[in-house]
Amino acid sequence: MSGSQGNLGALRVLLLENIHPSAHEMFRAAGCEVEALSGALGEEALREKLRGVHILGIRSKTRVTASALSEANDLLALGCFCIGTNQVDLGVANARGVPVFNAPFSNTRSVAELIIAEVVMLARQLGDRIREMHTGEWKKVATGSVEVRGKTLGIVGYGHIGSQVGVLAEAMGMRVVFYDVATRLPMGNNRPLESLEALLEQSDFVTLHVPETPQTRGMMGPSELAKMKNGASLLNASRGTVVDIEALGQILREGKLGGAAVDVFPEEPEANGRGFVTALQNAPNVILTPHIGGSTAEAQASIGREVATSLIRYLDFGSTVGAVNFPQIELGRSVGTHRVINVHRNVPGVLRDINRIVSDLDANIHAQVLGTDANIGYLIMDLEKDVSEAVRQAMSALPTSIRTRTTY
Ligand code: NAI
Repeated sequence: MSGSQGNLGALRVLLLENIHPSAHEMFRAAGCEVEALSGALGEEALREKLRGVHILGIRSKTRVTASALSEANDLLALGCFCIGTNQVDLGVANARGVPVFNAPFSNTRSVAELIIAEVVMLARQLGDRIREMHTGEWKKVATGSVEVRGKTLGIVGYGHIGSQVGVLAEAMGMRVVFYDVATRLPMGNNRPLESLEALLEQSDFVTLHVPETPQTRGMMGPSELAKMKNGASLLNASRGTVVDIEALGQILREGKLGGAAVDVFPEEPEANGRGFVTALQNAPNVILTPHIGGSTAEAQASIGREVATSLIRYLDFGSTVGAVNFPQIELGRSVGTHRVINVHRNVPGVLRDINRIVSDLDANIHAQVLGTDANIGYLIMDLEKDVSEAVRQAMSALPTSIRTRTTY
């Protein structure tokens, strides 16, 4: 295996579910043999197909179970070319020494842009005007239509998406405040607030960008909605469980809130074309979208590049930064060395055995780093070229070793 791109020639990559061509190109440029299938594979078909495959790429529909992995003896790493990783048995992958990578940030900008568009749409009641025009009704009114310049945008959850929204909103002349449970560096003139309550009380638009956690479940319920300014709008493109949809529908119909834009729902249809019902349908000035916040061509291409980059960096250098089920380590490459990479069961005495091998073979270690979790240890070691193969063989033979390889 190689330490330089373009020379991963012995490696077979299997990409399922129409993964973006940006990923194929990167693996081909790295010298890998790529097989791409348009659909997902069932458990049994996947088990068969994984024989001899070194890298597997999937999206959300392929379920990678313990049984699917049971004969994947050559599998080095797995890429989920999407955000979620629930479709993979992460524990089994970990125990087999297979790190799993995903693309948590590739659609950040896409979500932020949708929110900005919707803030303007809500300020101009565009959802209602568009619907009227499509049903043949001409209703030219200015009542309730405002510019967003000078208005206050309150961002709840100032992480990747929230902070991008803050930057874009400020460029449109909005005053931006945010509330986050963690301390976050404010971008531009964005201002942190002490509490959710303070944010709700002063924002003309409240946009939610929190993860789904026990704390965020129902965090916008009847009492929080009641604390919002009269006529303010709520936007949710985070997770459906964060907002009490029934309460939101009611408060909109009562006229307390001015509008809402909702992209995510507590229950979403599994496939396109299915019927969909929500308490928000036909409420005034409400924009409903089918969880498309992050769905753009750029996000898909970016997901392809982001996950392929993580996988190639793992193949080339053993870097596990960004892996969701593995100790995260990275080690700058020492010049003129070979790199031995070892995954082992995290039991007492492993390092003693590895050190004994290194010492018996009189191997000179240039650099090494070890990361552990409850089940495995992950070791990267840069060694003199003449001893690396002997060290790899001896480490590989240890009963505690799960996987050992060398990059040159
Ligand atoms: P992130 O992890 O970068 O940011 C989340 C922020 O929320 C963090 O700063 C965290 O400290 C904060 N937070 C957590 N609990 C909180 C609480 N109780 N109160 C206030 N702040 C809290 O996440 P990212 O990438 O910005 O994503 C945000 C949300 O957007 C996620 O729920 C994600 O699932 C969703 N999302 C939706 C998409 C769509 O298509 N609509 C696409 C991509 C992400």
